[in-house]
Amino acid sequence: MGTKLQIAIDGPASAGKSTVAKKVAHLLDYIYCDTGAMYRAVTWAALQKNVSLDDDVALKELLSGLKITFKPTATEQKVFVNGQDVTEAIRLPLISQNVSTVAAQVSVREALTKQQQNLALNGGIVMDGRDIGTTVLPAAEVKIFLVASVKERALRRYREDQAKGIRITLADLEKEIALRDKKDSNRLISPLVQAEDAVKLDTTSLTIEQVVTKIMEIIKKSK
Ligand code: DC
Repeated sequence: MGTKLQIAIDGPASAGKSTVAKKVAHLLDYIYCDTGAMYRAVTWAALQKNVSLDDDVALKELLSGLKITFKPTATEQKVFVNGQDVTEAIRLPLISQNVSTVAAQVSVREALTKQQQNLALNGGIVMDGRDIGTTVLPAAEVKIFLVASVKERALRRYREDQAKGIRITLADLEKEIALRDKKDSNRLISPLVQAEDAVKLDTTSLTIEQVVTKIMEIIKKSK
């Protein structure tokens, strides 16, 4: 289908980025890259190895021996760290509560940004995260910025976590999401911010299918 585009989908925690990005990638037969999963994987590895989460030098050393890979299956995208399946482990509350600290470290951002740019070299990719449209792929042909209210995002996460058997209250999720928004938006390097040329979509009262349809329309117009 013609030129293979770079499609950047950014936004705050639990705005529905990965669900819609995966669907858009499937419809276009593009690669899907969940950059949040990469930051989560580094956080998981650091906790395993007792590396201080704000020790930039130690994290750099850790990263040099870390290989993060993705493997799509019929139902989900599996994530591996040095061959070990961490798909479920990286979604646990302990990781969600600590990932913003790791994601604020220079060495981590540099290393992961480079890996993400390499993956996107030939286009044909839908990448979701916080800084894709601004820093990782500033020349992406399509940039979407997804937002939704904190209440709605907490509710979505609550339902997902319940289904996975993760026990956490709705009130705790609201707090966690608000805190993560604050940390992600206020960090010095590549903070969560809408790219000037991104299209903002508020998904609070939209279904997943409605969001996907809107994004597909934007992609068609950009071709
Ligand atoms: O999308 P997510 O909630 O799985 O992302 C987890 C964390 O990773 C998020 O709180 C901030 C960080 N992140 C980032 O800093 N830059 C990205 N491109 C993606 C995620």
